[in-house]
Amino acid sequence: MMKIKELKIKGKTFLAPLAGITNLPFRRLVKECGCAVVCSEMVSAKGIFYNSKNTVILLTSREDEKPLSVQLFGADPDSMAQAAAFVEKMGVVDIIDINFGCSVKKVIKQGAGVALMKEPKTSQAILKAVRKATNLPFTIKIRSGWDGSGHQAFEIADIAQDAGVDAIAIHPRTAVQGFKGFANWDLIQEAKERLTIPVIGNGDINCVEDAARMIAQTKCDAVMVGRAAMSNPYLLSQIEDYVTRGTYKEPKPSEIFQKMERLIELYVDYFGEKHAARMLRGRLTWFVKGLPGCSAFRQNLARIETSAQAITLIQAFKNRVC
Ligand SMILES: Cc1cc2nc3c(=O)[nH]c(=O)nc-3n(C[C@H](O)[C@H](O)[C@H](O)COP(=O)(O)O)c2cc1C
Repeated sequence: MMKIKELKIKGKTFLAPLAGITNLPFRRLVKECGCAVVCSEMVSAKGIFYNSKNTVILLTSREDEKPLSVQLFGADPDSMAQAAAFVEKMGVVDIIDINFGCSVKKVIKQGAGVALMKEPKTSQAILKAVRKATNLPFTIKIRSGWDGSGHQAFEIADIAQDAGVDAIAIHPRTAVQGFKGFANWDLIQEAKERLTIPVIGNGDINCVEDAARMIAQTKCDAVMVGRAAMSNPYLLSQIEDYVTRGTYKEPKPSEIFQKMERLIELYVDYFGEKHAARMLRGRLTWFVKGLPGCSAFRQNLARIETSAQAITLIQAFKNRVC
């Protein structure tokens, strides 16, 4: 069984950190679907350092989503270390992750995210400071770097392992690539051969067979799924079933509708009725992409003001499809 420090990971699947998506309600849904480890949206270390209310809200957790990995971003060793210590003291987080992969301009401009992959000295200082500040299992998530060679990925991975990082997730696209082209899984394989700490492979897993192929090719210890989980939270449990038992089931349409209703419940619980309804207008349509009648459903959903209206629309859609 894979371990991150002393934490036993009961499965092979990680939900990737997705800003604006992997909020508490969505993480709980994915966990209920059978994912082994869920990750938060990225959280600003400076925001925690200055005790920003909006930032600290992002650290809200529930027992039923555990183990939870919280991802921090930043570029300054002191504030990163203090944020890590703060997060540990909250007592709800199981893993601290640091973002070395975000390629959004706003983040790079601060010297954070994938910008760190060009700065091995700063990266080392951050990793050492965070390691000193927390006893929690500690991971990082990197890209391939600023070119396709993987040179920077291996440099940062070596620094991380030496600094006491307990596992590493790799999304092998370059900083410049964003989400275009393909992830180069060869780099995951090379990292796995090079490192002694567990390696989590990420990038372009869209179905169960992709995950199985990544594990077979790279020998990675676990897989991390991002975009595909947004519309198919079942994918993570299907991967778990496939890698442990060799089979998996497709969810019935009725189960998909049930999960949509569950997401509404979880959103209302966390965001409150008004805010939840507004957020769900776009969010719920992802689950029914491709089903007959989904564009009319999307148009009607865009006008909802309450969660009850969303449920009525789902029920009507369900009666047509099931
Ligand atoms: C909407 C969105 C938000 C993301 N936010 C984060 C983030 O906060 N932290 C991070 O490390 N990666 C973030 N990523 C990258 C994903 O975690 C993941 O590495 C990437 O999507 C590749 O995996 P996939 O092919 O399974 O989607 C984000 C990606 C998307 C599409």
